[in-house]
Amino acid sequence: MAEDWDITRLREETAGCAQTTFFNNAGASLQPRSVVARVIEHLRLEERVGGYEAADLVAPELDALYGSVARLLHCAPEEIALQENATRAWEMAFYSLRFFPGDRIVTAANEYASNYIAFLQVAQRTGVEICVAESNQAGEVDLEALEGLLDDRVKLIALTHVPTNGGLVQPAAQVGMLARRAGIPFLLDACQSTGQMHLDVNALGCDMLCATGRKYLRGPRGTGFLYVRRAMLRQMEPPLLDLRAATWVSAGKFEVRDDAKKFETWEAAAAPRLGLGVAIEYALALGLEWIERRVQSLATLMRERLADVKGVVVQDLGRLRCGIVTFTYEPHPAGEVMRWLQANGIAVRTIERSSTRIDMERRGLDELVRASVHYYNTEAELERLCDVLRAMNN
Ligand SMILES: Cc1ncc(COP(=O)(O)O)c(C=O)c1O
Repeated sequence: MAEDWDITRLREETAGCAQTTFFNNAGASLQPRSVVARVIEHLRLEERVGGYEAADLVAPELDALYGSVARLLHCAPEEIALQENATRAWEMAFYSLRFFPGDRIVTAANEYASNYIAFLQVAQRTGVEICVAESNQAGEVDLEALEGLLDDRVKLIALTHVPTNGGLVQPAAQVGMLARRAGIPFLLDACQSTGQMHLDVNALGCDMLCATGRKYLRGPRGTGFLYVRRAMLRQMEPPLLDLRAATWVSAGKFEVRDDAKKFETWEAAAAPRLGLGVAIEYALALGLEWIERRVQSLATLMRERLADVKGVVVQDLGRLRCGIVTFTYEPHPAGEVMRWLQANGIAVRTIERSSTRIDMERRGLDELVRASVHYYNTEAELERLCDVLRAMNN
């Protein structure tokens, strides 16, 4: 594990740090120079020799990406499917499961909109019931309430590890333990946690996990991956199949492959995948434990500093909090705050109610400002954010 890294060096390795004060790491982080260079290098190779030929030349490196993801998640390369984003990864897992009338899906209040929309669609199609477990006072899923819901009608537990709308970290490993004990498949949306904290699919107890490349992993856009536990793979038939996922063995017959690549398609963009490989190796070299500590301490400091700005209310829930910091700034609408900060060279984002509707409605929130930190941010940048916010009222 890494000792304290030289933040100045890490910032020098990130071209964007010289341009912007960047707090949109939960949207899409600034990529390291080496990631961008690898993408461009491959595009140049494709330009010179052709796309198929270029892919042949880098085949071992493309293949090594499965190993990098597996080391990141502590699983086997055969349990990884590469995807274009976390949503598609999640969907390939979810729509592989079969539901019947009277079945139940158990989830938590902070489930991401795209996932919940899929629950609703499948509920309309099949009559499956969606049960949202109560939250405890800290805002986390209440483990006792969740356990109370688990009976033989429940065919899936789906949890968002870190919501898009706050710093809360769900007690995923405890949920995983309950899922295992009850023998219920557990699908974890780790889109926001991957790359900012140490993840081990065995410790988490999840059977399926989705993640994206562009957020805390600092990879290129259009990259993501799905983990499916080996024992689970056999029970799952992908909702879509192509000639990579299956082989046409005789005129009237096909055979689906038995590793996680059955969730992939043959065609894929090689350049971003090579960039993702560089980004994952970069994170692994820094050490996910170090990244987690650094991100958490910066986010804690940001919450403390923001609380000193008159009118700002930090809105994050959870006993354990990560790099996502959300706040409101009365009387300013979130969009106005974002634009003001943008005009002053500071990148943040707004969160609308519809991205995590159940949680936002329960808390009576319409919108939030989200400032998400990464390890390359500095204390001086946090101070600047607060100064610029104060200046909004001058
Ligand atoms: C919790 C969560 N899940 C899933 C997604 C979707 O990820 P992607 O845009 O890579 O499909 C997001 C994106 O913000 C998210 O915050």
